[in-house]
Amino acid sequence: MLTKPTVFSAIQPTGNLTIGNYIGALKQWNEIQKKYFCIYCIADLHSLTIYQKPNILNKNILDTLAIFLACDIDPNKNIIFIQSHVPQHTQLSWILNCFTYFGELKRMIQFKEKMLLFKNKNINIGLFNYPILMAADILLYQADKIPVGKDQIQHIEMARKIAIRFNSIYGNIFTIPEKIINPNKGSCIMSLLNPLKKMSKSDSNSNNVINLFDKIDIIRKKINNAVTDSDIPPNIIYDKTNKPGISNLLSILSNITNVSIQNLEKEFKGKIYNDLKKSVIDNLYIFLNKFQKKYSKYRENKKLLNNIIINGSHKAQKKAKITLNNINNIIGLYNKKIL
Ligand code: TYM
Repeated sequence: MLTKPTVFSAIQPTGNLTIGNYIGALKQWNEIQKKYFCIYCIADLHSLTIYQKPNILNKNILDTLAIFLACDIDPNKNIIFIQSHVPQHTQLSWILNCFTYFGELKRMIQFKEKMLLFKNKNINIGLFNYPILMAADILLYQADKIPVGKDQIQHIEMARKIAIRFNSIYGNIFTIPEKIINPNKGSCIMSLLNPLKKMSKSDSNSNNVINLFDKIDIIRKKINNAVTDSDIPPNIIYDKTNKPGISNLLSILSNITNVSIQNLEKEFKGKIYNDLKKSVIDNLYIFLNKFQKKYSKYRENKKLLNNIIINGSHKAQKKAKITLNNINNIIGLYNKKIL
């Protein structure tokens, strides 16, 4: 019997998830669970690379789990777990450190961006090593497919490189993972005021971002202020190079309504930009309102959340132990034996 391919993905519990996180990741997670065996992780260890207030991090972890559930990620069908509950992630991460080169990590775009952000001062090594922990997350479960947004592609390439290097020494040990990105022009949702920049939950200007918890007045204000262009007559078509603002609004609208970009272009032919914005506002409201109601229901149910966390860590650990024991044997670490 053929086994289903394994999918792995994760999100950092840093609060304020955006419509970009939804379209680039969670929406896909939901669709993929219908076909594959999926393991979805709350990457709390990754989030420590930037200081988190302990009580806020604690709360954000449960919030993130309730967000997964509100996006209809099914904990009975998939494994949902918290990264720090499975110590094999950090153990494998150390081993993979020894198969990764300094120069490779130095070239990671996200690391270079963080260096700029912190003006090269006090960059912690966690930020530098982050792609190795991410490789460990993926390789520990022998994952075949990794659904992510475009900003994570370089890290998946790094995981592949590490796995191929390890396999070239020890044989075919690790599955070589492949990325999956949103097929409907949603792999990188852009900032509302600067559609040349990725929409990011850490943006200091909240007007750039649609947050999953935004209410109608805020949605209206942000979308009405979103940058478009000054084409005369107005032209509502998807053209990321020449019309990044309009293209971004079309991507958002298409992904939350499941109407193809082509059909949206037909619908808005001859219309003005305000018509498009109005439709984005109305549909974001419908989508987010439904999401927020579901979220509140799950977030209040502490018992359910706790059960999912316990079950998830148990199931994830079972799988992780098998891979790590195998790796330990293969590289020559000494197994405890009762003599
Ligand atoms: P994180 O928490 O920054 O983002 C979670 C997911 O959301 C996607 N994303 C976007 N997609 C489209 N448009 C955007 N504007 C946008 N912003 C974010 C990200 O690409 C990501 O898929 N390192 C990862 C978490 C992680 C992980 C892993 C992912 C840890 N281990 C193993 C995959 C496999 C991160 O920081 O994602």
